[in-house]
Amino acid sequence: MSIQFDEKAARSLERSYQTPEIAATRQSTLNALGLQPGEHVADMGCGPGFLVAEMADVVGPHGRAVGIDTSANMLALAENRTDGLAQAEIFEADLLHLPFADGEFDALACTQLLLFIKDIPRALSEMHRVLKPGGRLAIIETDWRGVVLNAEDDNLTRRMFAAWDAAAVSPNLPVSLKPALLAAGLENVSVEGVPIINTDFGRDGFSSGMLRGVAKKAQSMGAVSDDEATAWIDDLKAKDADGAYFFCVNRFLFKAVKS
Ligand SMILES: C[S@@+](CC[C@H](N)C(=O)[O-])C[C@H]1O[C@@H](n2cnc3c(N)ncnc32)[C@H](O)[C@@H]1O
Repeated sequence: MSIQFDEKAARSLERSYQTPEIAATRQSTLNALGLQPGEHVADMGCGPGFLVAEMADVVGPHGRAVGIDTSANMLALAENRTDGLAQAEIFEADLLHLPFADGEFDALACTQLLLFIKDIPRALSEMHRVLKPGGRLAIIETDWRGVVLNAEDDNLTRRMFAAWDAAAVSPNLPVSLKPALLAAGLENVSVEGVPIINTDFGRDGFSSGMLRGVAKKAQSMGAVSDDEATAWIDDLKAKDADGAYFFCVNRFLFKAVKS
C-alpha cells in the first residue's frame, strides 16, 4: 500500500524535519550507513529530500544518491532540495516495486516509511535485492505506543494514541523488525534507540506539529470529539506555559548487511 501526502501535509513534515532533534536522527542514519565518496546509495520514501541531499554531499560528485517516493508533493520538495547536485536523482517509485537492478546499491536508507507498508516481507526483500553483497541497510521506525507525555487526562491521551496506532498500516514495527530482516536474508542485524525529547511545546519543536497531527487524526476518525481534541492541545499549551511540558518518543535505528 502507498499513501499520498497532500501539499499541506508535505509542507508541515518538511518544517518538522528541520527541527534539531530530527536533524540529529538523520545524522544517526548517516553515521550508521558509513558512506564513502563514490558510493551509490538510495533513500526509500525520501519525503522532502533532506537525507538525499546530505547523502549526496557525502558520496560526492563521483557517487550517486537516489531518493524515491510515491507522493508528487514530496517529490517536488525533494527535487527542489537536491537541485544543483548532479549526483542526486529523485524518482517516483514504490518501495514494493523498485525500478532498480539487482545489486545496484552500496547502501540503502528507509526511515519512517515501513509503518505505511502492509507487506513488510516484500519491502525488505526488495531492499535486499537491490543491495550489493556487503551492502548496508539502515532503517528507522518509531515506537508510537511508548510515548511519554505530561498530559492531564491519561484516558484521553490513550484514546488519541490508540487512534494514531489504528491509522498506521503496520504499527508497532520495531518489536518485530529484527526477525523480519533476518527472514529477508539480511545479516548482522543490530538496533539502537534514538529518543526524541521535547521539554517545550513551541512551534519549532518536533512534538508540537506531531501532536497537533495526532489530535486532528483522532478527531477525523471520530475517536475523540472536537472539544476533546481542543482541550488536549490546550492542556499541552498550559503545561508549556507552566514550564511543565514533557514529551518523549523512541525511534529505533536498525542496521543490517547483505552477505
Ligand atoms: C513519514 S514520511 C518519511 C520521510 C523521510 N523518509 C524521513 O524520514 O524524513 C514517509 C514517506 O514515505 C512515502 N511513501 C509512502 N508509501 C511509499 C511507498 N510504498 N513507496 C515509496 N515511498 C512511500 C511518503 O510519500 C512519505 O514521503
